[in-house]
Amino acid sequence: MALCNKENDGMTVTTRDLTERDVTERELAANFDLEKLTPEFYADPYPTYRALREHEPVKRLPNGTCFLTRYDDLVIAYKNTKVFSSDKKKEFAPKYGASPLFEHHTTSLVFNDPPAHTRVRRLIMGALSPRTIAAMEQGLIRLVDDLLDAIETKGDFELIGDFASAIPVEVIGNLLDVPHEEREPLRDWSLAILGALEPVIRPEQFARGNKAIEDFLGYLETLVERRRAKPGNPERDVLTRLIQGEANGERLTETELLHNCIFLLNAGHETTTNLIGNGLVALSGNPTQKQRLIDNPAMTKTAIEEILRFESSNQLGNRMTTEPVELGGIKLAAGTPVTLCIGAANRDPAQFADPEDLDVGRTPNRHLAFGTGAHQCAGMALARLEGAIAISRFLARFPGYALSAPPVRGGRVRFRGFLSVPCVVG
Ligand code: HEM
Repeated sequence: MALCNKENDGMTVTTRDLTERDVTERELAANFDLEKLTPEFYADPYPTYRALREHEPVKRLPNGTCFLTRYDDLVIAYKNTKVFSSDKKKEFAPKYGASPLFEHHTTSLVFNDPPAHTRVRRLIMGALSPRTIAAMEQGLIRLVDDLLDAIETKGDFELIGDFASAIPVEVIGNLLDVPHEEREPLRDWSLAILGALEPVIRPEQFARGNKAIEDFLGYLETLVERRRAKPGNPERDVLTRLIQGEANGERLTETELLHNCIFLLNAGHETTTNLIGNGLVALSGNPTQKQRLIDNPAMTKTAIEEILRFESSNQLGNRMTTEPVELGGIKLAAGTPVTLCIGAANRDPAQFADPEDLDVGRTPNRHLAFGTGAHQCAGMALARLEGAIAISRFLARFPGYALSAPPVRGGRVRFRGFLSVPCVVG
């Protein structure tokens, strides 16, 4: 690292400071273990990510897996699906055994390679068409405005429960046309199933995850049966579209249909909740950027991309090497599990100027919050629409909102967000 004396925001950074920081960063990188994370890391993982990116960008972890933090290395892994496989059967067999969690996660399209992945993705992308998504906009605006009315009446509110999480649960419920009165368990099922993807899980998390899959499957079997008997409009109802398949006769098997419906319901919940929650918390901590966005609502589009980059709700992705490969000068054997750290890549100074700053007008902004390549998020247009409507209407209505107590983090490394954020409308 180059040593120098430099004025930075009025603070003099001395050679000694830099040397000390360098030593601390080297230590942080050397001691990093995804299975032994500290409360400080959960609160703010970015200093550790910076240390890894600078000193050990292709980091071997004590359990034999590899952790990538540089933007360019993630792009290589995302784009090269032959060498970096998404098929998780080998990896999940020891973690889950023969359990509902194993069946679910290994049937989801995100954890499969071609040709299974290509077939299922084509069917799902066909169902999540731009027309289906555009048709949701008016309903979404009404939903957000109703939530804002309720918040105005309350004055004191909880940003996640009263607002952020209420939006995706309704949107995904509408997408599959789940009757309103049957939506209540969806969020808990989703949290339990995705929680079991954490690098280390406790026996009770494993049991909760399995129970959630069983309950969810039981529910979906009934829903699918009802929809087969009385199909909806395939232009708007994704479930009917998935049941009917493509005009050329291509269809999902029953197991693929049920597990990919669970996956869709899950994929769009916590991630989008966290986009909205992380965004409004980040803006409240950056008053200049918040005011800039309030004064320029046309910036909503770039602001959403920046929030996705700055506090990516999905921080980690996973692959496994299928053949020996060299990355950043490090040789990886075939069969090495690789973690792709989106949170670190999205703050890589080689790709983003001043990456630790929130800049609601940032362009270009080629962040990896939705991944890239063959598995790039199938719901990103919907997530962007939800984020834009939720955040822009919230700011227009409550420009003076403020946190009224410290927010409580979700305590997860893969899905970054808050459990609760007490607020006042201001
Ligand atoms: C802010 C919100 C969201 C974020 C940050 C996000 C992030 C991601 C990421 C990083 C991937 C790539 C996984 C990989 O390559 O390993 C992915 C895949 C996927 N996402 Fe999202 N997602 C979001 C919202 C949604 C929504 C709303 C839906 C559905 C309605 C959705 C459906 C999917 C699906 C089906 C895949 C699998 C695609 C494939 O494997 O081909 N996501 N998402």
